[in-house]
Amino acid sequence: MLTPLSFTLLRQLSDGDFHSGEDLAEKVGLTRARVSQLLRQAETAGLSLERVRGRGYRLKAAPDFLDAAAVRVTLSQLGVKVAKPGAPAPRPQVPADDDLALTGPERPMFDRTPPALQVEVSDQIDSTSSELLRRAPRRDIHGAVLAAEWQTAGRGRRGRTWTAVAGGSLTFSMGWRFEQGAGFLAGLSLAAGVAVVRALEKDGFNGIELKWPNDLVFRHHKIGGILIELNGDALGPSTVVVGVGLNVRMPRALRREIAQPVTDLTAVAGRGAPPIDRNRLLARLVAELSSMFSEYAQHGFAPIAAEWQQRHAYQGKPVKLVLPDGGAVKGTVAGVDASGALVLADGPRRSRFLSGELSLRRA
Ligand code: BTN
Repeated sequence: MLTPLSFTLLRQLSDGDFHSGEDLAEKVGLTRARVSQLLRQAETAGLSLERVRGRGYRLKAAPDFLDAAAVRVTLSQLGVKVAKPGAPAPRPQVPADDDLALTGPERPMFDRTPPALQVEVSDQIDSTSSELLRRAPRRDIHGAVLAAEWQTAGRGRRGRTWTAVAGGSLTFSMGWRFEQGAGFLAGLSLAAGVAVVRALEKDGFNGIELKWPNDLVFRHHKIGGILIELNGDALGPSTVVVGVGLNVRMPRALRREIAQPVTDLTAVAGRGAPPIDRNRLLARLVAELSSMFSEYAQHGFAPIAAEWQQRHAYQGKPVKLVLPDGGAVKGTVAGVDASGALVLADGPRRSRFLSGELSLRRA
């Protein structure tokens, strides 16, 4: 478990040099015993620390801590509009019920210009997605980007927990408002997967594929995932929170704790590759996702379906689909339809399966 105090301490160690316990204690205003306790906790959170008698502590792989200012700079370089830090978030922009009842030219126009992104980094939070969902009723979260170094209650799909390592993961969520309702947005999580893979490729990470509905895999090992949560009327408008988790540098011990084969971007980059700049990568991901959301708002999933299939690790393969009730269906992956449902072929028969209810296994 990491606390805000742990981060104050870890930032002192982020230069990768040795610092004595005494020095650290003085800098952060704690006792040496408390410093030692916090550092032990940091180790259980996945950070690797070296202790040398007479020299003190050193972070073996000093993480490049997430920094909202650095993310904003890269986003601007990528041509993405960014809000000034600290600018008050607007109130939720939900059309009045009377306006929604209007059709035709009287209905007020939805603002389709991409919002200026509000980028925020939190050292520690329960879950970036939970936080944006909590904010949604009070503030406009359209264009909100919240990243965290450490989630105490990270959530995965289907009620699972999301395990990440402080300084060695990217965990962030984005809020977006769509004019349309749940039906139109059914393929959004798949579209988000395409955006994430495009972003990773632009930063030189090749070979990452999608696994229906929205896992990111490298050589069939999970490297990340996407969780989409939606609030709104069936007919729209909707507010969506898109949460993305990516393994950047995951210690072997932690990998063993996860029930499925997992890998990280460091493995994708390969030996001798320069260290991964998480701030840059975060900006790239956010830029690609926001441009995808704007595209999706206009055209939906249909124009992205072919690219999704091309990037699907199981396209055309024989698979077993495990249903939430434990039952299983066998077939060959024919693809996804325009709403993002998985289409399985069994001889001439085609069956559709909806996102969120199923998990995919290799046959
Ligand atoms: C999955 O199960 O594959 C989806 C994982 C999504 C994890 C991300 S991490 C950032 C955001 N906050 C959460 O609590 N979950 C998502």
